[in-house]
Amino acid sequence: MTEPLLTEIDHIAIAVHDLEAAIAWYAEAFGATVDHRERVESDGVEEALLKVADSYVQLLTPTREDSPVAKYLASKGEGLHHVGYRVADCAAALEQIKAMGGRVIDEAPRPGSRGTTVAFVHPKTAFSTLIELVQE
Ligand code: CO
Repeated sequence: MTEPLLTEIDHIAIAVHDLEAAIAWYAEAFGATVDHRERVESDGVEEALLKVADSYVQLLTPTREDSPVAKYLASKGEGLHHVGYRVADCAAALEQIKAMGGRVIDEAPRPGSRGTTVAFVHPKTAFSTLIELVQE
């Protein structure tokens, strides 16, 4: 590897029960405003992105009982859910993890929110941190 694959922290995702309450708290505490809001039906989540410099705080809540975020909230409660690392080439970054024998959740890049291309790396491979590779 000659060039670093990570170019930016794209977002940190925080799982919450009540998206409106979390948005209101961030507004009151930090003056943060919602830059983008989206329901991602395939993942069963609704998200609000609060812009911080060139990164985001992503507040995340489930839209249905069987979504992975609903299961996460049920077992672990609210809190840090995953970290999104921005990459120039999602497929290349994913292949690098696989080449190292790492476990991935997405075998191939897929559409994410904001028109991005994303892939998740399994936390068992990455120090108990769920990593999302995000290509803009
Ligand atoms: Co994310």
